[in-house]
Amino acid sequence: MEIVFITSNKGKVEEAQKYLGNLGVRVVQKKFEYPEIQANELEKVVEFALNWLKNKIDKPFFIDDSGLFIEALNGFPGVYSAYVYKTLGNDGILKLMDEIEDRRAYFKSVIGYYDGKVHIFTGVVKGEIIFEKRGTMGFGFDPIFVPNGFKKTFAEMTTEEKNRISHRGKALRMFSKWLKENLI
Ligand code: IMP
Repeated sequence: MEIVFITSNKGKVEEAQKYLGNLGVRVVQKKFEYPEIQANELEKVVEFALNWLKNKIDKPFFIDDSGLFIEALNGFPGVYSAYVYKTLGNDGILKLMDEIEDRRAYFKSVIGYYDGKVHIFTGVVKGEIIFEKRGTMGFGFDPIFVPNGFKKTFAEMTTEEKNRISHRGKALRMFSKWLKENLI
């Protein structure tokens, strides 16, 4: 079975293939621009995008939207994570957090799958924003985030280590479990 993954991020495709490949699913990347509405929840952004895409793409297909939510900043950057990463970056976030003691934050990933109906799978990993960047692996906010129960940042972990506990890994596991029970 083939499932189209609409994304411009090759890393996300590799991660998805790792999980869904075990089920005999081939993940095919398709780059296709779609609107990301300014809603305050990733689920709403994903649902809107799926409904916008559904008549333009052969089904089945899925998308993934994720973000970093910092408690002391009322969830910022959240749904604006991609834009904030491009503009402020990790140094900008550390500066914003300079005087802030409450370092709690979480990553959230929402996968939206469309097969004639909308199906949503989410994953969350809780942790803390540290005071200085550490590590060179991964991407995005990985160097400033330490997941609860660990000492290393995501950027100090191998992809396998990160995937085992990450928001995206959790959402992909839910998705592949659902596919196994419903399709294959
Ligand atoms: P999007 O899902 O591609 O829109 O990602 C939103 C932004 O959140 C990305 O540009 C990254 O900066 C950040 N982000 C999402 N997932 C991760 C992750 O696993 N590690 C670090 N940053 C992430």
